[in-house]
Amino acid sequence: MSGNKELVFKCDFDEYMDFGAYKARGGFKALREAMEAGPEKVIETLKNSRLRGRGGAAFPTGAKIEMVSKAKDKTRYIICNGDEGEPGTFKDRFIMTHLPFQLLEGIIISAYAAGAERGFIYVRHEYPEAQKELKRAIATVEAAGFLGENILGSGFSLKLEIFSGAGSYLCGEETALLSSMEGKKGRPRLKPPYPTVAGLWDKPTLINNVETLSNVPCITGKGAEWYRSIGTEDSHGTKLISLSGDVRKRGLYEIPFGTTFREIIYGFGGGPKDGREVKAVNIGGASGVLVPPEFLDTPLEYASCAKAGITIGSGAVFVLDDTREILDNVHNRVRFFLGESCGKCTPCREGLRQIDILMGKFREGTAVAEDIEKLERYTRVMQDAAFCGLGQAAGNSLISSLVHYRDEYIRGCALPETETKVREEALA
Ligand SMILES: Cc1cc2nc3c(=O)[nH]c(=O)nc-3n(C[C@H](O)[C@H](O)[C@H](O)COP(=O)(O)O)c2cc1C
Ligand code: SF4
Repeated sequence: MSGNKELVFKCDFDEYMDFGAYKARGGFKALREAMEAGPEKVIETLKNSRLRGRGGAAFPTGAKIEMVSKAKDKTRYIICNGDEGEPGTFKDRFIMTHLPFQLLEGIIISAYAAGAERGFIYVRHEYPEAQKELKRAIATVEAAGFLGENILGSGFSLKLEIFSGAGSYLCGEETALLSSMEGKKGRPRLKPPYPTVAGLWDKPTLINNVETLSNVPCITGKGAEWYRSIGTEDSHGTKLISLSGDVRKRGLYEIPFGTTFREIIYGFGGGPKDGREVKAVNIGGASGVLVPPEFLDTPLEYASCAKAGITIGSGAVFVLDDTREILDNVHNRVRFFLGESCGKCTPCREGLRQIDILMGKFREGTAVAEDIEKLERYTRVMQDAAFCGLGQAAGNSLISSLVHYRDEYIRGCALPETETKVREEALA
């Protein structure tokens, strides 16, 4: 991972994987201080930092912890979401495998603030290395007295375990995740009630992403103001970017909010290979959008991206150069979602099936002009009526490609001779 030691992840230090080195650099000091300050102070600091969830929905983290802390039921859980199913995203794997102590400290501080005495790290089974390192780290931290019974003599205890997922993309969605942990089918539940009210086994549950929780120790340790000094007025702190596709230096980068996509792709990533140009950028993973190079000067921050119609999501940035076919890329995503749809609701189950057929026709060049309108209609229905975020976001790349690369769809139409002129005019 590339990064800057002044930021959140201190990823220049290889020795950060080592418990002794982590402690020597101030590790677990934030936990000690948090326990001296008390849960209310921790929550206040996190709220003031304006940290927002990094799992995709960007919900304010301090507010979420406060909701759990105020629940009447004293049996509460914390779950760290390490499912990381979004294609092109590999930030949580890096943290869990290489920076496990920072993550554990964040989980313990958050659990303490929420009053959750049992916790789980939900790790996808495709990440065996991460599971191994986390197990090792949990044992080490427990032996040092930072985890387990009566942590640092505070009276607060936390039992933390790894839960291995079974490889379903949908189980990253928090309520499907809960169902899968309870031994049920990994399908989403109706919200509300939200997990903060009725989560694991119907108890108040704090669910946060790996990257979100890893931000916690430096915020409570260095203060909300320090954190807010990184980034922009709108979006604070840093974001881990999984950069892949047609760039010279693919990798994981920690960038302050406000960095433009051009800086990410050309600065950090070194741009496309010689002689090639950026044709499109997919931002936010399979459920994100496809945008043309005109969008590269958009700063990566929540407000600017929302204005430009970009969803930051998990922070995946995937570059397509001018050798790539947009329709191939979009169809690939549609098939991914078709395979991962749980089939519970009609708009997603049937919509994706129909869109898959239509995309095949466009790629073969046998579509008709009305098929473009059908693609738009089916996607809108999914966005409006699908039961969960999978179906609601599955058409994002399709809709954005219809806006920015419509000519490629028109080329995929086998039009009668009378309409050929219309097509040529549209492409002119
Ligand atoms: C289909 C789908 C898949 C998701 N996958 C993940 C995931 O792999 N990891 C994750 O942290 N959040 C994922 N989420 C978001 C979670 O539901 C939830 O919002 C998040 O874990 C909350 O943590 P945060 O507030 O720290 O972002 C997914 C959401 C949807 C709709
Ligand atoms: S939107 Fe798709 S994944 Fe979500 S409940 Fe409906 S069928 Fe299942």
